[in-house]
Amino acid sequence: MTIQSAPAGLGASGREALDGYRDLARSLPIEDRVRLLTGRTMWELHALPQLGLRAIVVSDGPVGVRGTGEDADETSALFPTPSAIAATWDRRLAIETGRAFAHEARSHGVDVVLAPQLNLQRTPVGGRHFECYSEDPFLTGEIGTGVVEGLQRSGVAACVKHFIANDSETDRTSYISEVDARTLREVYLAPFERAIGVGAWSFMAAYNRVDDGVETGTMTAHRHLLVDLLKHELGFDGVVVSDWAATRLTEESALGGLDLVMPGPRGPWGDRLLDAVRAGRVPEGEIDDKVARILLLASRVGALGAAPLPLEPAGAARDLIRSLAARATVVLRRDERDPVWDRPAPARIALIGANAVRPHVLGGGSSTVHPAHVVTPAEGLAARWPDAELTVHRGGDTRALAPLLDLAGRSTGRPAVRVRRLDAAGRELGVDELADWDGWLRDLPDEVDAVELEFVARLHEPGDHTLAVGTVAGHRVEIDGRVVAEDDGRAGVEVVLDSSVNNPAGVPVVVHVDEPRDVVIRSAHRVTRAGGYGNLVRAAVRHAVPGPGAEREIADAVAAARAADLVVVVVGTNEESESEGWDRETLALPGRQDELVERVLDAVPDAVIVVNAGAPVLLPWLDRARTVLWAWFPGQEAGHALADVLAGAVEASGRLPWTLPARAEDVPVPDAVPVDGRVVYRDGVHVGYRAYERDAIEPAAAFGAGLGWTDWRYDAVLGVETHDGGGHGGGHGGGVVVEGDVDVDVLVTNTGQRDGREVVQLYLEAPHPVPGDLDRPARWLGGFAVVDVAAGESRRVTVRVARRRFEVWDPRLDDWALPAGSYGIRLGRSVRDLRLGTAVRLGLDAVEEG
Ligand code: BGC
Repeated sequence: MTIQSAPAGLGASGREALDGYRDLARSLPIEDRVRLLTGRTMWELHALPQLGLRAIVVSDGPVGVRGTGEDADETSALFPTPSAIAATWDRRLAIETGRAFAHEARSHGVDVVLAPQLNLQRTPVGGRHFECYSEDPFLTGEIGTGVVEGLQRSGVAACVKHFIANDSETDRTSYISEVDARTLREVYLAPFERAIGVGAWSFMAAYNRVDDGVETGTMTAHRHLLVDLLKHELGFDGVVVSDWAATRLTEESALGGLDLVMPGPRGPWGDRLLDAVRAGRVPEGEIDDKVARILLLASRVGALGAAPLPLEPAGAARDLIRSLAARATVVLRRDERDPVWDRPAPARIALIGANAVRPHVLGGGSSTVHPAHVVTPAEGLAARWPDAELTVHRGGDTRALAPLLDLAGRSTGRPAVRVRRLDAAGRELGVDELADWDGWLRDLPDEVDAVELEFVARLHEPGDHTLAVGTVAGHRVEIDGRVVAEDDGRAGVEVVLDSSVNNPAGVPVVVHVDEPRDVVIRSAHRVTRAGGYGNLVRAAVRHAVPGPGAEREIADAVAAARAADLVVVVVGTNEESESEGWDRETLALPGRQDELVERVLDAVPDAVIVVNAGAPVLLPWLDRARTVLWAWFPGQEAGHALADVLAGAVEASGRLPWTLPARAEDVPVPDAVPVDGRVVYRDGVHVGYRAYERDAIEPAAAFGAGLGWTDWRYDAVLGVETHDGGGHGGGHGGGVVVEGDVDVDVLVTNTGQRDGREVVQLYLEAPHPVPGDLDRPARWLGGFAVVDVAAGESRRVTVRVARRRFEVWDPRLDDWALPAGSYGIRLGRSVRDLRLGTAVRLGLDAVEEG
């Protein structure tokens, strides 16, 4: 066979390069072409040595780059959660984050990072809320695509996910999102469209189905959205990858715009697709287009032809992570008379809360990476104030499930676990003795049908111990001679997709101990056959030691608070609440944390309350606390970042990228539970804060809110200039007629005692009455700018507002339209703290009127 030489993937525009790669594809045997379209493994594609194509390697995303190993031995830098990156409102920092991801990717041998996630925070209970950037489409697009740019400038592909209307987790592999064309264009598609604008090299098709008014179909086979819209209309030249194990249809997905089925090697394509091509049901041209897209991706990441782009230089990931986490911290309340950053170094610190003991540094699910270390709040505060006496108090457990049994700490001198493998007839295939146990057996050979496990743990503490084995699939669990759970069911890939495999509860039993003694735990498990995720057994062995009880722990914490001169209470969510795979059922903090805060505040009114959560939780005590910080899932440098903020070493410049509700009943979209299989996007374009604005509902903290450590004055709007389109600008405010982008200049002054960083936010308001009968949001984010200003100084800040920010998608025209009239421009510190206003006249009617 003669192989033509590969076209220049990078030099040529993507479209031209695709044409060349299509020709190259045609020169390959059809078997090779089709094989390339399904992964070789969970994280790798096939190689084609005859073309010089090596295997492309992919990995999750989006809080770091996990790598291709499934166990905790492969460590990676753990970054703050995406919502925290968005809370900086700083595209430059997002680009830096992407660049750091590229370094991580290269060091793990990864070519494609499965990030960023550009879905929206449509409901605060959404399980992957923390993985998304914002409830606002524009902010999501600006920050999320910064990550894309940072990655790709260093020759590592972003895989933008999950296309599209995949904004909640309940029944995530089956629900139909029903979204009208205008809502899709203006809200949910907007960040993805921006990603195409910055040249994203791959997209992930989501699990869900979509009814967009034209076609109802699963997103791995949605011809209207993948082919007509994404590839043809928007000109996407990259690869559309299926979400993991999402593709079930053969021909429909091949004809519907999907390019790559992951994971492999099994899947609905392979021989079945080959047959369909041979029978003429799928044209070869479709296959060639998919192959060409994969070859173009390969050339972009250096897996085919030239070496990849060199990595752009980046500083140490640790430093970036620490500064991101500190800067992203949102000051929700601050003590005006005695700001915490201005206090003398503390002599006695009381650190309180379950999340102070075990900070929750990342959300659950596929985004998990395994950091080599996590700096706890205690370590961070001790490093900052080495002379202080620091005590840590849990103040009651917040987890419903017992922690994992620490087999090393309960050693009996024997191996941690004995594993007996059995075939379907119950015959022994082999026995292994393992020195430690992380709760998983993975990649079991097909002939293994069941395993039996035996653990022996020494229980030292007198009293009642709780033990359990959390598992999925058929099992039998015997603890201390008692059979406590039995089930003969089978399980498959669904337990991975709904995340139930990640944190299984088990049936708890109480074992009473008077004298230290050994307890035997035996369990038998049916192997879970999880498709591309392999054959696995899950056994989370849980153990809670006898404890004083929550009442006593809270009382101890309050006593410690009274005796300290710096009290820091860290409340938050945990792996039982925020995770991929399910949506939350409540916005309340788990356990008795609200009571803990109230009792500490009764004793010490200036205690600092820190919220360690990704998505909104209700803070019923917010108005009585003097200092409240929202610290996100901060990543591996959690403790250092917290100490930097408390000591004022860093300006806590975070601004909420979503609305913090005051009451559960105020939430515009309180859940996304499908009804008759459908999630209907009735809220239309009024997502997040837009609904609060329309209905004049007071949130606990508004979209964009964050006080920082200094004070700001918004002095004046200095000018409104048209960027292009021929309008005449330069005036003070109203009366300007424009057709293109608009620049708004504003003067702000840092009136506080400290140097600071402000996020100048610009909101737009539609002309009154709204032209046409389109229902526009009360106000929406039009632009923003981040500015560093020294104490006492003023700065002129320009906020660019792109023409698209004014436009509507007019379903009658099937196109964007710019309704004419006078648009309000409001500038301020949040959508509820607007300090300055002006107006701009847009559109031809406005010219005639003028
Ligand atoms: C998630 C994706 C992820 C993939 C691979 C899926 O379950 O939805 O976000 O990239 O798994 O881990």
